[in-house]
Amino acid sequence: TRIIYQNAAGQRREIDAPAGRSVMQVAVANGVDGIVAECGGSAMCATCHVYVEAGPVDKLPAPNAVEDEMLESTAEPRMPNSRLSCQLVIGPELDGLVVRLPERQV
Ligand code: FES
Repeated sequence: TRIIYQNAAGQRREIDAPAGRSVMQVAVANGVDGIVAECGGSAMCATCHVYVEAGPVDKLPAPNAVEDEMLESTAEPRMPNSRLSCQLVIGPELDGLVVRLPERQV
């Protein structure tokens, strides 16, 4: 499953991501800068904030209540396409998803 990470400068990096991992885990495992993930993926820190820009956006489940509340605490402004990348679980249906990394996470 190809996940495309775009940094704040606009550079893109495509990673072939295994199913079952989160968009955050794949970024951290591959040294993608711009994701801090202080809480390790428990939806409790908001430092894995991303903007979902393109690709199969409609395949993403809506944020649950915990994610929705945590998205109020992001360092960069929350937008309609804001998500916590630790809550986005990769599967084949997300092939080609483009996530943009905010300028800062803390
Ligand atoms: Fe902490 Fe996603 S890693 S909220």
